[in-house]
Amino acid sequence: MNDMYILAIDTSCDETSVAVSKDTTILSNIISSQVELHKPFGGVVPSVAKRAHQERIDLVIQKALKTAKLSSHDIDVFAVTYGPGLAPALEVGVEKAKELSLLYKKPLAVVNHMEGHLYAVEFRRAPLLFPSLALLVSGNHTELVFVKNPSEYEILGETVDDAAGEAFDKVARMLGLGYPGGKILAQFAKQGDPTSYPFPLPMARVDDLNFSFSGIKAAAMRLIKQLTSDDARALTKKEIEDIAASFQTIAVKHLVRRTQKTLERMQEHIHFRSVILGGGVSANLLLREELRKLLKQYHIPLFYPKTPKLCMDNAAMIAIVAFHKAQRKEYVHNIQALERNPNARLDDVIV
Ligand code: KG4
Ligand code: ZN
Repeated sequence: MNDMYILAIDTSCDETSVAVSKDTTILSNIISSQVELHKPFGGVVPSVAKRAHQERIDLVIQKALKTAKLSSHDIDVFAVTYGPGLAPALEVGVEKAKELSLLYKKPLAVVNHMEGHLYAVEFRRAPLLFPSLALLVSGNHTELVFVKNPSEYEILGETVDDAAGEAFDKVARMLGLGYPGGKILAQFAKQGDPTSYPFPLPMARVDDLNFSFSGIKAAAMRLIKQLTSDDARALTKKEIEDIAASFQTIAVKHLVRRTQKTLERMQEHIHFRSVILGGGVSANLLLREELRKLLKQYHIPLFYPKTPKLCMDNAAMIAIVAFHKAQRKEYVHNIQALERNPNARLDDVIV
């Protein structure tokens, strides 16, 4: 069979990303980050994101093609994230992919952003094993997913309030570590004592597989107020490190406990061939270590993306899902009518 060249676009949040792949090999994976634009607001502003995507998308496409040493005419399949994400941001990528697909008369594959995070591990170890359990932890989502076979998913549990990454970012902000602070918080946590401030384990007595992070976040806020006597003084470096370590420990424990509960519940009838960790928070070293320890007891291998870049939002992960869809000829039938879906769910993936 001939090589298949795919150009994939992801504009789901605050990164304009375009990747070019040849089958399952990444030829380019360009990410134009808008972090600096959103920093003053302490979060992503949808209208600012939309404008930045519009301004950058053509340049990022050109750069992705140039890095891959290809032209638009060489592309066999165009692919784009249709959701979940910010509607105004998604719109830019979807409209551009429609335009390219119609102009070059090539098929268009649409990809769920979370499916991308899940398949990002394939760059380390192809192909994915079925059935698997996926723990997807990003800035907007936290979910445990039963991966039955390619493109058949069941969400077993999800957050009832904040996502894991969102909680890391919010606590980092309270500690004055900037935005987005998840990664910086994890660095401060390395120096801290995780036993200094015992936060309550969320949902310890709730017998489902959902997550909740708002309780730990509120506890961190109360603690910081107490320590600084309602902002009359700043936190010391030691306090910041200790709070970061205590928060990270409890957040990771919550994620690992929920994963353990899922395995306990399902192990009688299902043998998971792997646990897949995906999304931005999968870059967290403590989370990887604690999950690895847990899975050793179950003799299940843990897979996570090969590089930090592949953990975060990027279009290469969209390209790899598109490759599988292309093998199954799952293309959009009516390109003109295609619309973004900001609330797209993994258990409702469109083909
Ligand atoms: O998947 P992603 O790039 O974007 C979304 O789809 O949301 O995830 C970004 C999230 C941010 O909340 C960021 O703070 C978090 O991943 N993150 C981390 C680490 N690196 C990134 N959280 C904890 N520890 C890290 N090392
Ligand atoms: Zn993401």
